[in-house]
Amino acid sequence: MESRYDPELAWRVHGRRPDADEPPRAHVETYGCQMNVHDSEVIRGVLAEIGYEKAGGPEDADLILVNTCCVRETAEKRILGRIGELQGLKRRHPGLVIVVAGCMSQQEGAVERILRRASGVDIIMGTHNLYRLPDLIQEAAAARAGARPGPVVEVWTEARGEVVEGLPVRRDPGVRAWVTIMYGCDSFCTYCIVPYVRGRERSRLPEDIRREVEELALEGFKEVYLLGQNVNSYGRDLPAGPGRTFSGLLRELDRVEGVARIRYTTSHPRNFTDDIIEAVAECERVCENFHLPAQSGSTRILKRMNRGYTREDYLALVERIRRRVPGAAFSTDLIVGFPGETDADFEDTLSLVREVRFDSAFTFAYSPRRGTPAAEAPDQVPPEVKKERLHRLIETQNEVSLARNRELVGCEVEVLVEGEAERRPGLAAGRSRTNKLVLFRPPEGVKPADLVGREVVVRVEEAHTWSLEGRCVGDRDAGGPNAGRVRAEGRCPS
Ligand code: SAH
Ligand code: SF4
Ligand code: F3S
Repeated sequence: MESRYDPELAWRVHGRRPDADEPPRAHVETYGCQMNVHDSEVIRGVLAEIGYEKAGGPEDADLILVNTCCVRETAEKRILGRIGELQGLKRRHPGLVIVVAGCMSQQEGAVERILRRASGVDIIMGTHNLYRLPDLIQEAAAARAGARPGPVVEVWTEARGEVVEGLPVRRDPGVRAWVTIMYGCDSFCTYCIVPYVRGRERSRLPEDIRREVEELALEGFKEVYLLGQNVNSYGRDLPAGPGRTFSGLLRELDRVEGVARIRYTTSHPRNFTDDIIEAVAECERVCENFHLPAQSGSTRILKRMNRGYTREDYLALVERIRRRVPGAAFSTDLIVGFPGETDADFEDTLSLVREVRFDSAFTFAYSPRRGTPAAEAPDQVPPEVKKERLHRLIETQNEVSLARNRELVGCEVEVLVEGEAERRPGLAAGRSRTNKLVLFRPPEGVKPADLVGREVVVRVEEAHTWSLEGRCVGDRDAGGPNAGRVRAEGRCPS
């Protein structure tokens, strides 16, 4: 990472001397999906490299970076309000530098919108140029010193969105590490802003991904979560070669010693080909949770969404996976109130939930996004109808989630322990291979903290809508009567 960063200039802008005892402090606030969560880990790495320490909070910071999302209007409004609010902190600390990064900055007209709301923002940057942050701080410092007034704006379009390797990462501590395998999205679902703000699909090379995963294993991370807007199309933009399809990449990474679990998100039902099902079925470390955003249960609406599959295609895919991967769990994303959605279309979504029996679902009311085709549709659904449908959908899904979880009572599941359960002192918490939250009593004399990073076997005794509870009956890592691989909920009646 080449940088002309001069600490003296930047530190002066914060009103601190470079030789002062305390380094400048940065506070990073993140909104949006896992892509953004991981981008913020890179941002923290870049900031750490040029000497910033983590601030205790915004009040305590010399630099505040807001990593934004614009996927729905509610998110955008909340974030704009937040940026306006943070600006007030400049009254107490004139040396404070405020950076707006992420997807919102990439939208057309966003710079003007941000500045109208918060004229005190110093830097506006996008999603493609994270590694440029040191230089942008430098430019902002120069601007402050009077060389060039006003905010520094650098938002790149996809033309300059090449994959940059070797960026520093400050990962959140824990058992799980996020690894981006591809950037951007080429799907252009008609409701979605992501392809416009994240640019075209760009895959990292499999050897770079493998190297990163190997390093993570050495650092002690037990679970690797592969990230992309449509991971199933990984490698399509690369010349053909080993590991350059998603199934090939899974098989490649499954060979890395030390990683216990591999997960990935997000899949696109249209691109979930049989070779991927085979790879998941055969790869020991690849987990049996399938996050397959359906978006709607109505073929008519799916067509208008440009999703590229019908309700029947979706059901057939779930069926193929269930046959090949026993104990598989399914989660999804669903949108209600897409333009033109009738009561009958919505009933199709409810019936899809009952038919597939999703383990869980993220549910959204359609939010028109400027510049996307669906926002222009004349047959928008009134807000109160969306609200009522969303409510009914959530109720239906909750019933199904509880019923699915109840089927697991009496079964043994393999849990990767993450720590002590929040608000349930004495209980340990972790995730099953199917990504269900499991709380359990550790064996006599063992504290939850002692089990972090271990894979244990838990007998499920109670089921709730969003979690399971049970007791530990074995430790896969330590051996013992129940040690050995328990594939998914494979020991259960299915
Ligand atoms: N690439 C991923 C994530 C996209 S954003 C995917 O395809 O699933 C996450 C979810 O937000 C989407 O799956 C969709 O359900 C929802 N979403 C996207 N745009 C939306 C909009 N305009 N209104 C409501 N929900 C939306
Ligand atoms: Fe948006 Fe569709 Fe791409 Fe997902 S696949 S990011 S919903 S355009
Ligand atoms: Fe939001 Fe950008 Fe993710 S718009 S959902 S943060 S890709």
